[in-house]
Amino acid sequence: MTDTPDSNPPNETPLAPAAPQVVPFAKQARVDGGRPRVLAIANQKGGVGKTTTAINLGTALAAIGEHVLIVDLDPQGNASTGLGIERKARRTSTYDVMAGQAPMRDAVIPTAVPKLHIAPSTMDLSGLELEIGQEKDRAYRLRTALNNINNGTPAFDFTYVLVDCPPSLNLITVNAMAAADSILVPLQCEFFALEGLSQLLKTVEEVKKTLNPTLSIHGIVLTMYDSRNNLSNQVVADVRQFMGRKVYDTVIPRNVRISEAPSYGKPVLVYDLKCVGSEAYLRLATEIIQREKELLAAV
Ligand SMILES: Nc1ncnc2c1ncn2[C@@H]1O[C@H](COP(=O)(O)OP(=O)(O)O)[C@@H](O)[C@H]1O
Ligand SMILES: [Mg+2]
Repeated sequence: MTDTPDSNPPNETPLAPAAPQVVPFAKQARVDGGRPRVLAIANQKGGVGKTTTAINLGTALAAIGEHVLIVDLDPQGNASTGLGIERKARRTSTYDVMAGQAPMRDAVIPTAVPKLHIAPSTMDLSGLELEIGQEKDRAYRLRTALNNINNGTPAFDFTYVLVDCPPSLNLITVNAMAAADSILVPLQCEFFALEGLSQLLKTVEEVKKTLNPTLSIHGIVLTMYDSRNNLSNQVVADVRQFMGRKVYDTVIPRNVRISEAPSYGKPVLVYDLKCVGSEAYLRLATEIIQREKELLAAV
């Protein structure tokens, strides 16, 4: 590993305001040896599709051959529940990892989907900020925990880590951004879609300046699109105008199968592979891999 952030910890949690700015595609650091690509799925708004995207993009990436770890960093634990991980199966959770009480590999458990693992969360995580808020390495807990995830016993060979963030720009989300190569932002196709985006981009800029200089925005995924609704079309047009190439071509439709699947503890691709929601997440996975190839070719 070339990054040793824990040797030079920041003194302040980087949440001070900075000039709003869209982060350009950074030339990505090449994936060296065993390091997976880390994508943080972040938006401080709740209900925009972060968890749904973590579960279903993770499943779609696994379906096309990637080895994926979902790190559930939301105390609500919806990604864990949506993947059928019962509370009693969460013996070691992301709280234990972030609190420095267990290595990440102890929290990693398989899901019913081949090649898809999860590090589950519990409500304990909601107390984390109070507990570690004064520690010097508080913003680098996740980054440190993901270092060397692939080098150990048992041997993992993750190619992607997807971090499901809580609906807040708190220390947990800052940890995700400090650990990530790139951020994936779900935006719901609704009237206030862009509200809050500049605050999110400001935070990304701040993290870039203080904690993680190679961080970039991977892309914006429009979710819950309803073609019968003029507003949805207007939102897509506005977001594309504002964010340009950053917006993925794939738009995730509003689809009842997507919302039903979590109550069965299944990704939609397992619940109903043929529905439009599953097809959309498969297209998104393909697009993301294509974008990754372009980024790596440009290095
Ligand atoms: N494309 C979609 N179609 C229909 N329902 C969706 C879709 N995406 C998400 N949902 C539903 O919307 C709600 C919020 O989504 P979720 O992924 O939990 O958001 P977040 O993690 O950002 O809070 C959930 O009930 C989820 O099942
Ligand atoms: Mg969520």
